Amino acid sequence: MESLKDKIIMERLPQHIAVIMDGNGRWAKQQGKMRVFGHQHGVQAVRNTAEACAELGVKYLTLYAFSTENWKRSSFEVDALMGLLTSALKNELKTLNDNNIRLNAIGDLKRLPTSQYEALMYAIDNTKNNDRMTMTLCLSYSGRWELVKAMKDIADEVKNGSLDPEKIDEALISRHLATADMPDPDLLIRTSGEERISNYLLWQIAYSELYFTEKFWPDFSKEDLYQAIVDYQNRERRFGKTSEQIKK
Ligand code: FPP
Repeated sequence: MESLKDKIIMERLPQHIAVIMDGNGRWAKQQGKMRVFGHQHGVQAVRNTAEACAELGVKYLTLYAFSTENWKRSSFEVDALMGLLTSALKNELKTLNDNNIRLNAIGDLKRLPTSQYEALMYAIDNTKNNDRMTMTLCLSYSGRWELVKAMKDIADEVKNGSLDPEKIDEALISRHLATADMPDPDLLIRTSGEERISNYLLWQIAYSELYFTEKFWPDFSKEDLYQAIVDYQNRERRFGKTSEQIKK
């Protein structure tokens, strides 16, 4: 069978792909099912995407799994998402290790219930030596939460005399973010037809290519990922320069 994978130029693979996994609720509703049913099926799409990225050689995959704002959903839905998180962490640990994938998490993790927090820390520690790809789960995360935290940390350093305010530059701010040890995303994918950033990686996506697809997250397949990468490779990333300057 022909696959879009064959159209991908391996030398120009995005190093870092970030994803806003949207549309689980609508996917479930379409079939007359509860929203939670969509989240359950979303786990399979996470598995497919992680596998496809690792197979291709993408180094970083960052997934928006639970935003700061998601705490405001019904306690039934929040509990179900937390339950899915623990079962996925438990069930997928072996697959992560078999595929040499390092798990990472960013966000206000202390807000997670104890059992989820502990399961997460266990999985992170258990995969820490894997180096094929880093998969980061953004949990209780939002871009503004992260920026507020970075600004407070920087202010503390200025206050205690360890940082000269003159030394504050873009690189220093990047180092104070939860993504300090990762390159910025080259490609940001959002599913479900919504074309918004929704408080995701606000600082880091300054020059990311944005890709939107109508597909709901549970339907997002490996081919859909390849399509997004092919689309990305057909674009010209200029980083503020002109087309002529880039071609030189
Ligand atoms: C957005 O769909 C999706 C979420 C808020 C949660 C994403 C969670 C998963 C994919 C499953 C669990 C993941 C892990 C890593 C264990 P939505 O509910 O906003 O859908 P809607 O916009 O159609 O209502």
